[in-house]
Amino acid sequence: MRRKVTVVGAGNVGATTAMRIAQKELADVVLVDVLEGVPAGKALDLYESAPIEGYDSMVQGYTSDYSNARDSDVVVITAGIARKPGMSRDDLLSTNMGIVESVCKEVASVAPDCVIIVVSNPLDAMCHVALDTTGFPKNRVMGMAGILDSARFRAFISMELGISVENIHALVLGGHGDTMVPLPRFCTISGIPVSEFLPESRIDEIVERTRNGGAEIVSLLKTGSAYYAPSSAAVEMVEAILKDKKKILPCAAYLEGEYGIDNLFVGVPVKLGANGIEEIIELKLTEEERSALHRSAEAVRALVEDMKRLRGGK
Ligand code: NAI
Ligand code: 2OP
Repeated sequence: MRRKVTVVGAGNVGATTAMRIAQKELADVVLVDVLEGVPAGKALDLYESAPIEGYDSMVQGYTSDYSNARDSDVVVITAGIARKPGMSRDDLLSTNMGIVESVCKEVASVAPDCVIIVVSNPLDAMCHVALDTTGFPKNRVMGMAGILDSARFRAFISMELGISVENIHALVLGGHGDTMVPLPRFCTISGIPVSEFLPESRIDEIVERTRNGGAEIVSLLKTGSAYYAPSSAAVEMVEAILKDKKKILPCAAYLEGEYGIDNLFVGVPVKLGANGIEEIIELKLTEEERSALHRSAEAVRALVEDMKRLRGGK
């Protein structure tokens, strides 16, 4: 029997995620959105490409009907509004909080054993909404951001040096926002530290571009935010879980004391396998790196506090 992945939100990220899952034949895909016709239309369009692309994964779309999501192995939540030019991720807070909460209630009732990957922004705050609403154990609720931010870092290094992206490894920790923490010390090119290839001043510029990677795409697209790289990142997580790969990837995970951070979703390296987050990898950080991670965590905590106030004001 084939595995099942439900993707909630059939917009740019959701539909592209569905396409990548189907093309890799990772699972059958159920696409759910509130829009009339759109999830069914995009799913049918995707399935009509199957004979050409050569995949047998089924793709089906439904409007606000979660019955076909029953017993999904993984649910990817991309529902919400995307950032527009001039809008910060944090501006999305109040709208997406309500959307993610309503989606999670549906998901918990039809797929109580699934692993949830949150994509909707502001990412780390939305992970809290998912954890609180579903009551799932923390290993089965996580957020996608670190893989995307690290991929941007890797892409910029590759463009700079003219070296294969496959040779470049990088790590970005922290919340998915302006305070994210790219860590040049863990950036290597075929195992060689990036500092052997580039002066510190240039690395600093690339770090800054990485921090602004999402905004750079928004300012170019003008009508939405990135989705090709975000969907690739989400699918890397889906694949690691479905294939029980035990892959170490930076993901938003619920910390309970790790890195000196308590009761908060923050991006850290984790081991991803069939049970979701199977281990949180605690790196020995320098004082400077640790302070930057804590500053980023505080930015996430401020959003979580804002959500509490918004909820209280209901
Ligand atoms: P989009 O606007 O193209 O798609 C969002 C979809 O969600 C729309 O089709 C909309 O109808 C649907 N939706 C709204 N309310 C819903 C509900 N209650 N149930 C089901 N579907 C609902 O936006 P896009 O570009 O796909 O981005 C989706 C989200 O992902 C945004 O919040 C965006 O900021 C975030 N994002 C996060 C990234 C990350 O690194 N974590 C990267 C890229 C995007
Ligand atoms: C990004 O980083 C919008 O969070 C999204 O592209």
